[in-house]
Amino acid sequence: MVKTKTVYVCQQCGYESPKWLGKCPDCGTWNSMSEEEKKEKPSTKYTDILIKSNPQSIVNIKSGNIERYDTGIEELNRVLGGGLVKGSLTLISGDPGIGKSTLLLQTASNIAEKYGIVLYISGEESEEQIKIRADRLNITSKNLYILSETNLEIVERHIEDIKPSFVIIDSVQTMYIDTMSSAPGSVSQVRECSNHMMRVAKNNNIPFFIVAHVTKQGELAGPRVLEHMVDTVLSFEGERTEEIRILRSVKNRFGTTSEIGVFEMRDKGLIQISDPSRLFLEDASFNAEGSAVIGIMEGTRPILVEIQALVTETKMVNPRRTVVGIDTSRLNLILAVLEKKLRLPFYKYDVYVNVVGGLNIDGTFADLGMAVALISSINAKEIKLEKLMIVGEVGLTGEIRPIASCDRLVKEAAKLGFKNVLIPKKNKLSINGENINIIAPSTLKESLHNIF
Ligand code: TYD
Ligand code: MG
Repeated sequence: MVKTKTVYVCQQCGYESPKWLGKCPDCGTWNSMSEEEKKEKPSTKYTDILIKSNPQSIVNIKSGNIERYDTGIEELNRVLGGGLVKGSLTLISGDPGIGKSTLLLQTASNIAEKYGIVLYISGEESEEQIKIRADRLNITSKNLYILSETNLEIVERHIEDIKPSFVIIDSVQTMYIDTMSSAPGSVSQVRECSNHMMRVAKNNNIPFFIVAHVTKQGELAGPRVLEHMVDTVLSFEGERTEEIRILRSVKNRFGTTSEIGVFEMRDKGLIQISDPSRLFLEDASFNAEGSAVIGIMEGTRPILVEIQALVTETKMVNPRRTVVGIDTSRLNLILAVLEKKLRLPFYKYDVYVNVVGGLNIDGTFADLGMAVALISSINAKEIKLEKLMIVGEVGLTGEIRPIASCDRLVKEAAKLGFKNVLIPKKNKLSINGENINIIAPSTLKESLHNIF
């Protein structure tokens, strides 16, 4: 017998309590508890469990062969770690209107053409609405089946019937299971629906793509439980007003999480950008005050982007430090080094730093470039070298430390027609044969002589 009981569940973090609370003790959110139903599993005897499970030596376990589908979209394949793994569950999140449904419809059509029936389930749009989008994207695949449905048990029955090679659920927050009284999108429903989908995916070896909405703060709506259950979590980002879209993986059981996919939203759908540097530098203001071009590695791919700094005088005791696309602590560290080593009075100035194009830069690739942009702005002096790319980590003593894959970044710069690169001295040896002027200082001070 399955018993049900009432619990109060925090809609932010999934914390459960037997009684209502004004504030979630776990994540501290106010008014987030709502009443939900929880099924209690019938208790299993230990002896039953012992019969089912069977420990075995690791050398006797066969490593499963990971089979992958080609999604027909190279940028998506890369982010997934080389294609869509059969039987895997992938969550894709992003702001409304960013292009999740568009990306998935394009993927669905490609897979349908190549591997047979694909089932696209939408709980948000009618079949006709999806057809309008498909027409816009020029999708005519006969094997692409559309179903507008929110009852997950009915969806499961259709999946058993038509045995698709790929299933898309758009979105998990609209799906519900009849036996549960809580509303679609609530923590219990989302959790239960995910359990169901996982079972169907693993039993039939069908890959699932599940769309999940994010809250205003950019968190996955509903609980984090979802992230733990699925194999891969992708996030689709970008400014809605600009066309560049970036797909990154936050978690991937079948690949790395450092790769990104770059797309551009056009009037006939998303197109992939295989050389993102060109796009990011399209409107770059070379040699403008406060601007520098930096090189970064996103996974295995070198990318050049523009970084901009604006330094303005302030009377505030605590001057402003505003960053977009870069870690605030990295900026603070660079500012501290510049104050101490170059005697630049940043404490009297507000500082704004922006990575153009919506990329988020991890690591230390941008250090030296950011320092140069900041110096350029505070001194109101532009870089005098023509077409210069800057890479390098800045250490606390003002030394320029080497970075990984510098040779690949220099190669990319040469390919894009750059004339000069400013790189760490220790990286210089690894570079040969590029038709580009190399400046390789070992300290911050030394760098400045050459470029201003
Ligand atoms: P959509 O995929 O519906 O976003 P999401 O599922 O993430 O909410 O895309 C919505 C936006 O994309 C919408 O504002 C219109 C725009 N768009 C294009 O610019 N070109 C296209 O070909 C399509 C299909 C949509
Ligand atoms: Mg959508």
